[in-house]
Amino acid sequence: MTDLPITPDYDAWPVEVALEGVSATPRVLTVHWQDGRVSRYHSIWLRENAGDDTTVNPATRERILDLSRLPAWPEIAGAEIDAAGALCVTFAPEDRRLRFHPGWLRAHDYDNAPDPEAPLVPVTTWQGGPDAGPDTLDAEGLLDTAPGSDDEEAILAPALESVLGKGLVRLRNMPTEPDSLKAIAQRIGPIRDTNFGGLFNVKAKPDPDSNAYTSIALPPHTDLPTREYHPGLQMLHCLENSVEGGQAVMLDGFAVAEALREQYPEAFATLTRVRWRYANTAKTTDYVWHEPMIRLDARGELLEVRIADFLRGPLDAAFEDIEPAYEALMTLQRLLRDPAFAIRFTYRPGDLVIFDNRRLLHARDAFEGQSGHRWLQGCYVERDEIRSRYRMVKRAQRRRQLTAEA
Ligand SMILES: [Fe+2]
Repeated sequence: MTDLPITPDYDAWPVEVALEGVSATPRVLTVHWQDGRVSRYHSIWLRENAGDDTTVNPATRERILDLSRLPAWPEIAGAEIDAAGALCVTFAPEDRRLRFHPGWLRAHDYDNAPDPEAPLVPVTTWQGGPDAGPDTLDAEGLLDTAPGSDDEEAILAPALESVLGKGLVRLRNMPTEPDSLKAIAQRIGPIRDTNFGGLFNVKAKPDPDSNAYTSIALPPHTDLPTREYHPGLQMLHCLENSVEGGQAVMLDGFAVAEALREQYPEAFATLTRVRWRYANTAKTTDYVWHEPMIRLDARGELLEVRIADFLRGPLDAAFEDIEPAYEALMTLQRLLRDPAFAIRFTYRPGDLVIFDNRRLLHARDAFEGQSGHRWLQGCYVERDEIRSRYRMVKRAQRRRQLTAEA
């Protein structure tokens, strides 16, 4: 019996349901699965997604085929299911027989995909209040695990899930050595460098270049809305905290935006339309970007919020938009003050909070600088990195499933 063909990727595709039958017209192939599902695939789609070495570089599993160089639109001259359970298609006019892995084919069944761009983990908005707190996990020993190992995954997987779904997780019992955040962050992905450094130190310091580096209170905000692409994730790692005050405050910007959409639809529409000026005109740098305060994706779901009163420049929108924009802004600001949205907590040394900086707002109470030490280190990592890392976790799970089936 022959093996199943390789797939045009490095993922693992357990065959949960086998192919039962196949029929085809020149341009559309229809398969019947054993559970009754029927899936259609276009000939051109199949041709470009074959896993053979005329289509994909076997070393990189990246496509090398240029469809426009085929002699004609690829058509199906014949199709069958072979002894291994793979779909075999003969393409004309190339007269090339290519095999497709049924697990891969089922996972890429675009004819039956209800929402192909659905998030990896369902997004759930949350409220705060006095009894609410972040999902909290004991991550002791994370840095002692081998990268990519099952032990690392056991700690990381639930953390990634909380960040993807709720935008926030708190890991406890991490090391408290300065700069250990670098190694921790790299378990998820590369750090995004900024003008504040790869790792930045959040503590009161002389001649501060940000309000963050003082002991004053910070209103709810997202970091660096002044950038075309503002950082996806922020990590804050507590090394020392013995001051009076300085409690952390976090709220789910998506929950606030949804409340706005429901209660004040006009204000919501205005904030998704009017482009605010975000500016950080500091002593030695000058970052400016225009963007709406709330952005939706192509599906109408929330993509990001950009909120930081101290980093808004003078509004330079159309004349007739100015008053409605400020009215909508103040409606949002009133909602942001509602304590029902906020969770409050005090950092313990060894705590590491990871949150979606394009979704969550963070704030801080003022603290008494003379009463002790408060030292957090922070860094940014892109959303892409956490999604990639989580997909790798899922791939490892599928691979284990394959091994168990073998
Ligand atoms: Fe911040």
